Amino acid sequence: MKNTERDAIIALDFPNREQTLEFLDLFSEEKKPFVKIGMELFYASGPDMVREIKARGHRIFLDLKLHDIPNTVKRTMAVLSGLDIDMVNLHASGGSEMMKAALEGLTRPDGTRPLLIAVTQLTSTDERMLHDELLIEASMNRTVMRYAQNAASCGLDGVVCSPLEAASIKEECGNDFITVTPGIRFADSDAGDQKRIMTPADAGKAGCDYIVMGRPITKASDPVGAYRRAMHDFLG
Ligand code: C5P
Repeated sequence: MKNTERDAIIALDFPNREQTLEFLDLFSEEKKPFVKIGMELFYASGPDMVREIKARGHRIFLDLKLHDIPNTVKRTMAVLSGLDIDMVNLHASGGSEMMKAALEGLTRPDGTRPLLIAVTQLTSTDERMLHDELLIEASMNRTVMRYAQNAASCGLDGVVCSPLEAASIKEECGNDFITVTPGIRFADSDAGDQKRIMTPADAGKAGCDYIVMGRPITKASDPVGAYRRAMHDFLG
């Protein structure tokens, strides 16, 4: 089932089709990069955008972070699976029944399916918010680990996590459990709003399976060069 090769995924955080295709056209001479389509682009340009990018030969991580009742998530995953995407995600906080329903919906009639990855706690959630707003008494680390274990025991393929958590998640959930890690920055690039960051080279050494990079590639003066550098550093 698993088709996992360690890879760098470019976050296509663009507001429309034109800017997205203009960016992807830069890669006409390259092996087509694995890309991530998030809520912004999907809500702006819809499933046709996904089909168009797929037809250009890219692998696609559809980062829509589903979270709803099990039946709704199952039916939605069935629709997304029909888009021939390679990876999709949901919130582990939706619970085990929802995660199992998602897997069922995602599985195509021929038994294949995209990788299904869980979000544990968003990196924008801090300990104060966890305790004071969400009324979760366990620590952030304990919550992240428990959500990852829940996802693993439901049969999901991995989690989105900080590169700093990748090693302990693999210790808890097994080495085959995939870690997809945003918060990646070159040593000489601007951290922006990312707080807990790692370089592509260190993420590789930490055992991350996929790194997700947006602005250090999309906003670079030479995006193709930045992508090549990320791949080179990450794969070692
Ligand atoms: O530009 P940058 O490299 O920070 O982009 C990271 C991408 O990963 C963005 O699309 C962001 O939404 C996503 N992401 C993240 N942190 C998470 C989950 C997703 O940065 N915990």
